[in-house]
Amino acid sequence: MAERVEIFDTTLRDGEQSPGASMNVAEKLEMAAQLERLGVDIMEAGFPIASDQEFEGVRKVAEAMAGPRVAALARAVDKDIERAAKALEPAKRPVLHTFIATSDIHLEHKLRMSREQVLERAGESVRLAKSLVERVEFSAEDATRSDLDYLVQVTQAAIEAGADVINLPDTVGYTTPTEIEEMFRYVIEHAAGSEKAVFSSHNHNDLGLAVANALAAVRGGARQVECTVNGIGERAGNTSLEEVVMGIRTRQNVYPFETGIVTEEIVRASQMLSNLTGLLVPYNKPIVGRNAFAHEAGIHQHGVIASRLTYEIMTPESVGRSRSELVLGKHSGKHGLAKRCEELGYSLSPAEIGQLYERFIALTDRKKEVFEDDLRVLIASARDESFETYHLKHLRTSGGDPTMALVILERGGEELVETATGDGPVDAACMAIERVTGVSGKLLEFSVRAATPGKDALGDAHVTVEFDGKAIYGQGASTDITEAAVQAYLGALNKYLALKAS
Ligand code: KIV
Ligand code: ZN
Repeated sequence: MAERVEIFDTTLRDGEQSPGASMNVAEKLEMAAQLERLGVDIMEAGFPIASDQEFEGVRKVAEAMAGPRVAALARAVDKDIERAAKALEPAKRPVLHTFIATSDIHLEHKLRMSREQVLERAGESVRLAKSLVERVEFSAEDATRSDLDYLVQVTQAAIEAGADVINLPDTVGYTTPTEIEEMFRYVIEHAAGSEKAVFSSHNHNDLGLAVANALAAVRGGARQVECTVNGIGERAGNTSLEEVVMGIRTRQNVYPFETGIVTEEIVRASQMLSNLTGLLVPYNKPIVGRNAFAHEAGIHQHGVIASRLTYEIMTPESVGRSRSELVLGKHSGKHGLAKRCEELGYSLSPAEIGQLYERFIALTDRKKEVFEDDLRVLIASARDESFETYHLKHLRTSGGDPTMALVILERGGEELVETATGDGPVDAACMAIERVTGVSGKLLEFSVRAATPGKDALGDAHVTVEFDGKAIYGQGASTDITEAAVQAYLGALNKYLALKAS
């Protein structure tokens, strides 16, 4: 049997650090359930010392997970480690992940500590972590810019203190495949006791090399890869889970390993994350992008018809993308709709199904066929209703320069009517909303794209709006794109009000 490379998913921690990707506790739980179905070996649920909400998120994920190990991050500082251990208390298989930087750049400018002090802190923090939690991972932050022999010393100290996993991260996305392969080989060969630990690789994508570096690290001896769904994460992101897993699966002659990932769950995980965070997946993203399996050129289409082997190295089915998505219609019924949501990985309450069904029926009046992607978009916008203070009852826009908008909002059964003019329909409607609610927001980002092909497509609108200096994400869906945009704006405003009240 092939040797296993364990998949350590950090979507809920490093991934969540992407600008605009923050998830509340309920959203983290929903994503965690999908990661469990995906078969990740370890999921890092958060950084408990960061905030009470972060602590609660880790605790709830730890409570809910039966299969995967659940990890929590802590700096090599006693209070961080104790807080992380507390958050992990309900976990069946907890992992405490503690880290300290080892590069001279970080030692001098960030930590202001000597190499000897960091070496000592690394050992002490692992010892404390190990006294609280049965499994400990130690990370040498900025390992790829650290002196190799010093890295060997720190690794040795961490293993002596009881670390089960040694992670050597490329924190700033600086290394190359050849260098990282050599780094792992060198440290594993020279650190006393290395055979007792699992070596892990955690890469950032600043030079677009995160996946290549992770695969090279595996060739150098790493047996755990840290990654995120859709590659989300700090700056340019992390190693993309789907790319590294499919790289191993597709190129067995180069990477003769196995992972425990149920690859058929990949697309579902990707789409769920995108809907929860609003971070759209580029159409050409490997494995999960809409075009990843679409053959456009006539010569390619001809080849694929003759034999898929001509231009297809993986099948869409192997990553959970069906060639023909089942269409839902007016007659599918509430039960059919609920079943389809479940198949897509969403666990919705009866009240949420009720709201979704209303939107679904309204959509079937405007659009002949409702596809799975339509449904995902509807689910995301119905979700936002749970934050609702104001509900959009009616919207009408007219004229050109300037445009006039009439908006009717509902708040606690009361109808609030307002008109405004603006530079285009979205601007005019947002001005009217501002007048009704008395809340002023600055639109930072706005995009609308079709959820599925066809002239009657559902417009999927995403906005980021700044309220009181805080960037809030909103999503809206309608076959009328102005309405979709206004719903997205109102969704963000409702979230802001809910946040302010909490
Ligand atoms: O990029 C990094 O170095 C990290 C560590 C905390 C593992 O995220
Ligand atoms: Zn990182």
